[in-house]
Amino acid sequence: MSKLSEIKRAWWKEAVVYQIYPRSFQDSNGDGIGDIRGIIQRLDYIESLGIDVVWLNPIYCSPNDDNGYDISDYRNIMQEFGTMSDFDELLSGMHQRGIKVVMDLVVNHSSDEHKWFKQSRSSRDNPYRDYYHWWPAEKGEPPYRWSYFAKSGTAWKYEEQTNAYYLHYFSEKQPDLNWENPQLRAEIYDMMHFWFKKGIDGFRMDVITFISKHEGYPEFPEEIQGAKMIDWYAKGPRLHEFLHEMNREVLQHYDVMTVAEGPGTKTDNVLQLVDENRQELNMSYHFDHQSIGVGERFIINEDYQNLVKFKTILSEWDEALSKHGWNTIYLGNHDFPRMVTRWANDSPQWRTTASKMLTTFLLSMRGTPYYFMGDEIGMSNIKFDHIGDYQDLMTINWYNLTKEEGGNIKEFIDSHKLCARDNARTPFQWDKSKHAGFSQSAPWIKVNPNYVEVNVANQQDDPLSELNYFRQMIKLRKQYLTLIYGRYELLLPDHEKIYAYLRELDEEQLLVILNFSDETSSFQSDKINGLKQAEVLINNYKNYICDINEVVALQPYQSIILRLR
Ligand code: NOJ
Repeated sequence: MSKLSEIKRAWWKEAVVYQIYPRSFQDSNGDGIGDIRGIIQRLDYIESLGIDVVWLNPIYCSPNDDNGYDISDYRNIMQEFGTMSDFDELLSGMHQRGIKVVMDLVVNHSSDEHKWFKQSRSSRDNPYRDYYHWWPAEKGEPPYRWSYFAKSGTAWKYEEQTNAYYLHYFSEKQPDLNWENPQLRAEIYDMMHFWFKKGIDGFRMDVITFISKHEGYPEFPEEIQGAKMIDWYAKGPRLHEFLHEMNREVLQHYDVMTVAEGPGTKTDNVLQLVDENRQELNMSYHFDHQSIGVGERFIINEDYQNLVKFKTILSEWDEALSKHGWNTIYLGNHDFPRMVTRWANDSPQWRTTASKMLTTFLLSMRGTPYYFMGDEIGMSNIKFDHIGDYQDLMTINWYNLTKEEGGNIKEFIDSHKLCARDNARTPFQWDKSKHAGFSQSAPWIKVNPNYVEVNVANQQDDPLSELNYFRQMIKLRKQYLTLIYGRYELLLPDHEKIYAYLRELDEEQLLVILNFSDETSSFQSDKINGLKQAEVLINNYKNYICDINEVVALQPYQSIILRLR
């Protein structure tokens, strides 16, 4: 039994984070690209959700090779998105509404168009040379490193100018910054102070687990090849030293939240990042559940919706962070498919019910929920048939590599209908007018044709809509601290269709039952007493059936939270 009096409460533990991908939220000037003034126009909507924190994907100057994750100036705003005064207005508009703002911190790499890199690549003795990782060609070819987005597959790019290779774990236009250099670290800390002094409330730290590279770039063991290298990238010898330093130099001076994007982080090492006694970061989010049934280049297999694996992974993560640190919960973001497609069912018959079920899950787990814009109205994958419709360099590069290798293109296109990142990046669906109310002109990426039905205007005043269910679920989470801090206990771990768990705090006991399938499924557990008398806190159907033996029959994608005591 958990006791509230023994728990260290914090605003970021009690917050619901809503993620805005600015490029796709609202266009205000008719260029087909979302922008800051567009977000300002929608502040009342954002406030109406009841969320506490907005995480903004990068809005800094960028040539947009990777939609803003290639930054050419950390202290200015991307022209397409607006100006610094627009940003200041946005920040104060959020704060007036009691909403905190978390920005993306992208410091594993910069853009190759950043002035640091322009200097660095110009000569071997330039003062900025050591801001990046270089391998002199006279030493021969550098040891192989895998790259997420490289056109050729390797993370080293040769430059004639200085006869050397530079390292880029992501695209060629995203050279990795050299954290070994104290001057570079000081510049980054200074830039972080700049944003905190403006009043932002935290950072989501892009692939922060990759910042420390292994000295001398040794060959990795034979079994650590391809995408497996990610786990090694996350084990750089100086990672924790750097994060301690960042904490000491910057973070501890403000009341802010930090969350690591933690690829390569596992349950056995996450505490090194987020244990509160270690003064590094507050939270981290992992990729373990997202990898279920997804292989290299996002080719999926039959495990794609394996609920038993999903429950096992999420329960292990809860356990790992149950005593120290704090967990995060998310089902999708701008790097993953739409949650209703990925984890449930996006058919017109079930989309609404299934979205509500997933919302129940996200907002009833222990850990800070990160909720991706558009999921609250049940937006689903666009599922492009043609490679020409994709904008994401990752999909395009992988497609080209697959083609060059004579690989299976049909399998690639089919898998990417389910997994490609662009599925989550299509314009937000506000109403049924042309371009879904997102823009006056054709958007940078196609709108999902289902916008005619799936949109905010349709749902705003409908008490049974996904949107209003989301608002209701947020209220419930705030009303019952048990949903935030309560101990989590998984029930029926081997059930293939039902995910059920208890949440307990002091004398209160809540039971969450979720049917992850399109069939009626029954729930029974001898760990539960008094089901018949339980109070229903929320239900995405009108009723639920519980027989005299306390067996609950759940309708397809039904979700219920019961208060047992
Ligand atoms: C993770 C970001 O979420 C993703 O969108 C980006 O492509 C990579 N990091 C590289 O910055």
